[in-house]
Amino acid sequence: MKVVVSAPGVVKFFGEHAVVYGTGAIAASIDKRLYVTAKLRTNGEVKIAAYDLSTHGVIVTLKPNGEIVVGTDYGKVIPAIAYVRKAIELTREYLGERAGVELEIKSDMPVGAGLGTSAAVSVATVFAYATITGHELEKREIAKLGHRTELTVQGAASPMDTAVATYGGLLYIKPTSSSPIIEPVKKGAELPTVIGYVKRVATTKELVAWVRKLRDRYTKLVDQIIWAIGELVERARVAIEKGELRTVGELMNINHGLLEALGVSDKRLNDMVYAARMAGAIGAKLSGAGGGGCMLALAPNRLKEVATAIAIANGTPIITELGVEGVRVEKVEK
Ligand code: PMV
Repeated sequence: MKVVVSAPGVVKFFGEHAVVYGTGAIAASIDKRLYVTAKLRTNGEVKIAAYDLSTHGVIVTLKPNGEIVVGTDYGKVIPAIAYVRKAIELTREYLGERAGVELEIKSDMPVGAGLGTSAAVSVATVFAYATITGHELEKREIAKLGHRTELTVQGAASPMDTAVATYGGLLYIKPTSSSPIIEPVKKGAELPTVIGYVKRVATTKELVAWVRKLRDRYTKLVDQIIWAIGELVERARVAIEKGELRTVGELMNINHGLLEALGVSDKRLNDMVYAARMAGAIGAKLSGAGGGGCMLALAPNRLKEVATAIAIANGTPIITELGVEGVRVEKVEK
């Protein structure tokens, strides 16, 4: 039997970093997906073949005793599969099931670029493992296991990316001391956006740690920036619902400035942000953890011009549909 599961990438509209400290955030699924194919193995081993992840064509076998056997000789292999490994471990524990599986992972989006691929791989692995072993999981359970996976691997992670990878759509997410608030945001008007990305030089984990250290040194100051981001997210939600795109754009610009103040932007991201604005975007901000990675521009009637401007600023533009379906089974073969 073979199961193919897919989960979408995620773009952050508002509130990244601050969401780690409990404010709201708004993020959307994108029309690029990551695919996990699962087959059962009889010997209790977990074999993972990862293509298009941060290294190409990595094959890893996890022995039932937890030992890792690397089938191909690539240095970056262990970080690349950390999420897959943890997702399986947590799902096995949760289901009380220790079947051996063979997993193949493919992505049609760049990995580690800030498009939420770690969330997509975590969520898709949880769902694929549960499905191949004959268990039905509710979305709530998939999102929770996916979030626990990111949390364990990264040390800190909000439930934002894993919620969007699971449910899809445009979502408002706010962590609470119990379950996070996850609510769909109804758009009053279309949000025509262009994503731009450059290679990332720091990981999400490092950037989250950077903000934490800055907050340790300038607690009151950084808390006020976090508060301001939380405030603009609430306003952005209302503006999106009312279809007030000018306000949405302005709030994106303010959000970018505040992320810059937290020290997570860089010249390459700023170049793309300014190029997009000059080409007619009504708002542009970095999107995700920063340190390179992604930016997002709101550009009604200017998608092509903004995409070109991003390319000229040395970024790779992606024009994509937002709010697509979350994690789903693509195929089951008996
Ligand atoms: O690195 P990305 O694009 O998945 O974005 C991380 C977003 C943060 O708010 C910085 C961290 C988090 O867990 O929400």
